[in-house]
Amino acid sequence: MTLFLDSSEPHEINALFRWGVLSGVTTNPLIFARESPNADLGERVREILAVSWGDVSVELTTETEREMLEEAARYHAWDPARICIKVPMSEHGLQVVYQLAKQGIKTNVTCLMAMNQAYLAALAGATYVSIFSGRVKDMGYEVAPIIASTRNVLDREGLSAKIIVGSMRSMMDINEALEAGAHIPTITPTLLRKMVWNPRTESTIAEFNTAWRNRHAATSR
Ligand code: E4P
Repeated sequence: MTLFLDSSEPHEINALFRWGVLSGVTTNPLIFARESPNADLGERVREILAVSWGDVSVELTTETEREMLEEAARYHAWDPARICIKVPMSEHGLQVVYQLAKQGIKTNVTCLMAMNQAYLAALAGATYVSIFSGRVKDMGYEVAPIIASTRNVLDREGLSAKIIVGSMRSMMDINEALEAGAHIPTITPTLLRKMVWNPRTESTIAEFNTAWRNRHAATSR
């Protein structure tokens, strides 16, 4: 089981990788626009690479096959072993995934809302297929059956793509994705911090530490 961080913020990435629970980073153009609107993309990605390990997904923003392949080559050169080209799902996107896979370049096919899309992406040679939990639910559908059927078809047909589930809005979304068969949840720093915290854990630790600090008073009575 693997957990990725959905962020472009190097300080957060650095702090959270020190927990030892993360093994990759996903980004997208909206995350960069929100978190670092004025940063140079190449510089920011190099900062992320320096404070993390594992695959770092960087998403294509062009729309023709030729432009997408040129953009992918530029990103790939930043760190050929770790940059994973995030390719939005489309007819051109599938062609690009197929071309990149033939060159041994890792891809993450993104913005997936259905099993049939994930299946096509896996057949084209995607390393990862990213299903968007929150956005599927925004449309009024359940996401667990989509994740489960995608996992079933990948396993049954021996396709190597791993299922990332992103667009997580709550801890229940993470649990649901894991139980349905996701290989990799990708979550925001806020959600990752929420996973640590439980009020009963806090009160139990406070009870134990208070008892320890007061032990002499208790025994001398
Ligand atoms: C995943 O790879 C995406 O970056 C992300 O989770 C999208 O989530 P959103 O629906 O919050 O934009």
